[in-house]
Formats: sequence, structure tokens, C-alpha cells
Amino acid sequence: MGRLMFNRVIDGGERFGFATGDSKEILKSIPSNSIDCVITSPPYWQQRIYQDYEGELNHILGSENQPQEYIDNLMLIIDEVHRVLKPAGSFWLNLGDKFYKKNLMGMPWRVAIAMQDRGWILRSDIIWDQMKGTQSAKDRFRDIYEHVFHFVKSAKGYYFDTDAIRIIPDKKPYELNGQLTSATGVSGKTYFKKLEETTFLTAEEKAGARSALNETLEEMRNGEIVDFRMTIRGAQRSYHSGNTKISGRAKELADKGYYIIKMRAKGFIPSNIWRIVPEDKWRTDVHCAVFPEELLQTPIMATCPVDGIVLDPFSGTGSTVNAAVKLNRRGIGIDISKQYTELAENTLNQHIRHIPPA
Ligand SMILES: C[S@@+](CC[C@H](N)C(=O)[O-])C[C@H]1O[C@@H](n2cnc3c(N)ncnc32)[C@H](O)[C@@H]1O
Repeated sequence: MGRLMFNRVIDGGERFGFATGDSKEILKSIPSNSIDCVITSPPYWQQRIYQDYEGELNHILGSENQPQEYIDNLMLIIDEVHRVLKPAGSFWLNLGDKFYKKNLMGMPWRVAIAMQDRGWILRSDIIWDQMKGTQSAKDRFRDIYEHVFHFVKSAKGYYFDTDAIRIIPDKKPYELNGQLTSATGVSGKTYFKKLEETTFLTAEEKAGARSALNETLEEMRNGEIVDFRMTIRGAQRSYHSGNTKISGRAKELADKGYYIIKMRAKGFIPSNIWRIVPEDKWRTDVHCAVFPEELLQTPIMATCPVDGIVLDPFSGTGSTVNAAVKLNRRGIGIDISKQYTELAENTLNQHIRHIPPA
């Protein structure tokens, strides 16, 4: 089914498709520069194999004896991912680490560095804080995070829709005793007082700071910003580097005597720590670490345009394809386990086929 089905997804006739087999081989049937976004979680090195893979065991990633062997095998698949990805495309790679003879192997970074050596550009290392973890050893700390690396093919001009993923502040400025006040209680009154009292600024600097403060309050009144903080030279402790060569804020403080941080009403870009509880119930019908939908939404919305194609070369239960289709993108999944691809296809057929095309 693989090749034909994928052609129909790529041409736009179908919303999704799955193929069973070794990704290294199946990816070869996908045309170069045809995929907008790849999101995947390969089996980790020396991960237990739960499935009956019907004699395909030699193709199962993760069963290698040495870390380098694992990396070499993974790179054969990742090279194909590079080929099929559009020049503006993104590759999101989720990997966990492994202790070997009590030694933490640093597997995610070994893989990331191998990819950089092959020309991939690493844009973010997202720490997926899973917020709970099992206590597997008593002589070290509890494991609670995994990495999600965001790679691109080209440093400039990759697709990234910042506005699609902004966190919009839910609290708005309000009036308090006739004074406009930010959601966190900042009205500017304290800053005006500090400017009045400080001896660390010249009269000219004070005038400049007051006028900037008035402009900021005007922006809040107009709804352009929802909150702000002002730092005044000598008036309060600042938390950035004091080195004016390194820190732009330190330079502002030295040159003008103040700086203002503003929170725009259109929201801010999420940080690189994502607190998302993993899918709790390891499925009883299949044994596989399933992607939580929340983890997939931000990468899809930021790096795959509507109606674009998201690929998962280790698709397991099909969660990536599922999330892509729900968000009006198209999805392609490949997995070596027939049980998984059948399950994924059935789930999508049951729940999602009725979604009208984007
Ligand atoms: C960590 S699971 C992926 C789970 C998936 N993210 C989900 O949400 O269900 C890794 C998957 O890689 C598959 N796999 C292992 N070696 C493979 C290979 N050479 N080609 C394709 N799939 C492979 C396994 O069958 C397994 O389903």
C-alpha cells in the first residue's frame, strides 16, 4: 500500500496514509523535497522490544550492541528524512537517554551532534518536562525529562509561524482608583517615585526615563501591551549580565539609566521547557510510548503550513498523523510493526475521515 497511498497523500487526494516496513526502505519511495515537517520518536538505544515483528527483528532500531552502531543505523534513516524534507522544512526529534553500566550515555546529544556533522541545523533543544517519573535507582536522581530537538535544513527561510503558537496573556489591564493598572498591578506610580528620588541618574536621564514611562503607559492604554517592568540604574537589582559588551540591557542601563521590558498583547513565544504529562496509560492492546497530543500541536502549528504534510517515520500508534489531520494538515506514517500501522489506520478511519479537507 505504501508507495501508492503516499502518492495520493502527496498529491492531495488523501488526508493520510500509513505503510508497514523498515523506514530506511519505505522513505525511498517518497519524492525529494515533498514533506513540510517530520516529527518522530525512534526507539531509544537498547529499548526493550515488545512486539512480535514477524521476523523483521534485524531492522528494528535500538537493538544494537554499541551506541555508535545505533547512531549509524539511525543516520541511514535520518539521511532519507533530509532528502524528503522541503528546504523550508523542520524535523522534530524526541529522544530519551540510557544508562549503560550505571553510566548515562548522553544518547540524545550524540545523535544531535552526528546530525549537525551531516549538515542539519539545530534550532532548539526543548526539554520535555514530563512532571512525574519513576524512581528506578536509589543512588541517583529521578528521571523526569526527555529532549525534543528542532532541526532545520537551512538556517534562513525555514517556515516558522510564530503567531500560531504565541501564548496570549489571559489577564488584561484594569482601572484601579482611576489609574490604569497592568494585570500584575503595575501602574507606573512606583517607577515615577523611584525616578524622582534616585541620585544615580542625571536630570536629563530622568527626563528621558519619565517620557519613556509615559509612552509605555500610553501603549498600555491603547491595548498594544498588557504589562511592563522598568529597571532603573541603581534603584533595584537587575538580573542580567552587567557586562555591556554581552548584555543589551546592561548597555541600555549604562547609556540611558533605565530599560523597560514590555509584554505585548499579541502574546509571547513559548519557552524551551514544555511541561506535558506523557500519555499515562501505556496502551493495553499495544506496548508503545505514545506521543501526547499536546506535545505535537506546537511543532505542527509552528512548522507545517495548513494542508502541508507531516511525516512520522516511526509512527507507532499513529499519534503524529492523527494530530496533523486534526489540525488540517496531511499525515504520513511508517512503522515496522503491522499491528501498529493497522491500529493507526483504523483509529484514523474511525475518528477522522469525516473531517472535511482544509
Ligand atoms: C517509540 S515508538 C513510536 C511511538 C509513536 N510516537 C506513538 O505515538 O505511538 C518507536 C516505533 O518505531 C518502530 N520501529 C522500530 N524500528 C523501525 C524501523 N526500522 N522502521 C520503522 N519503524 C521502526 C517501532 O515499531 C515503534 O512503533
